[in-house]
Amino acid sequence: MNLSVQTRPVALVTGASSGIGACYADRLARRGHDLILLARDEARLRLQAERIAAHSDVAIELLRADLSERGDLDRLIARIGDDATIGLVVNNAGIATTGPLLGADPARIDAMLALNVVAATHVAIAAATAFAARGGGILINIASVFALLPERFNGAYSGGKAHLLNLSQALDQEASPHGVQVQAVLPGATRTEIWQRAGVDVATLPAEMLMDVEALVDAALAGLDQGERVTIPSLPDAAQWDRYVQARLALAPNLSRDTPAARYRVTASAEPQP
Ligand SMILES: NC(=O)c1ccc[n+]([C@@H]2O[C@H](COP(=O)([O-])OP(=O)(O)OC[C@H]3O[C@@H](n4cnc5c(N)ncnc54)[C@H](OP(=O)(O)O)[C@@H]3O)[C@@H](O)[C@H]2O)c1
Repeated sequence: MNLSVQTRPVALVTGASSGIGACYADRLARRGHDLILLARDEARLRLQAERIAAHSDVAIELLRADLSERGDLDRLIARIGDDATIGLVVNNAGIATTGPLLGADPARIDAMLALNVVAATHVAIAAATAFAARGGGILINIASVFALLPERFNGAYSGGKAHLLNLSQALDQEASPHGVQVQAVLPGATRTEIWQRAGVDVATLPAEMLMDVEALVDAALAGLDQGERVTIPSLPDAAQWDRYVQARLALAPNLSRDTPAARYRVTASAEPQP
């Protein structure tokens, strides 16, 4: 009889000091994963590690890093590539900017794109590349439902999340033949510090639109267990998403052709005179 326990791979969680990332760390520890927890605030990471140690006997490494800094990001990318014990990455660290784009502060937009787009992109590519080379692994990208709703939130935030969704779908197509599961999670409004950090009082959001972080993460992990590539925890009917994807793909044969559509054809009388 084989009594050996199958060990779970080390899980790396970015943005693990609060909110969604902290909850993933808790849940993954309960599933038996050793953890690498990353954020800028080391004291909060330590607190999070102590909470986890109270219920789970897993090894926890803390990584203090600011992923909007190129040096810290490059060190993380190298670690993901070099450390074959890492088999699960939750690509979660992110910030939000609210308010209109017209007149938006360029420095705030830059800071958000550096983390939500540049860092998230390189972490995702590094993880998918390493996992594909090792023949397996799980990459969870925390996007947002605003990826689908550019009219409803700051367009640079929603654009960044649409980028991450797009990237997830492309990486999944490339990496799944190598045993890699890439899941994009699209949370709706979730009760975390992100709102306060962006200057929004979470109490002003309609309660029926606001999910607790534990419910969000448990649902996202259930979606992962079901093999989903895109998980929208709030969406009651998964077939609605499938129809959306089918409608998008139905455009494909018509998106690149050798002639413009009839409505754009220039008639002889409309041609510019020399
Ligand atoms: N809450 C929502 O309603 C909601 C909805 C959709 C999607 N999301 C996405 O969910 C993800 C997590 O957000 P959250 O709601 O859990 O917010 P949160 O509670 O504010 O957590 C954000 C995490 O990211 C870390 N972080 C921030 N800047 C960082 C940097 N430069 N380098 C490294 N880590 C950094 C923070 O830790 P430190 O400050 O210690 O670095 C913290 O651990 C984000 O990508 C967000 O866009 C959230």
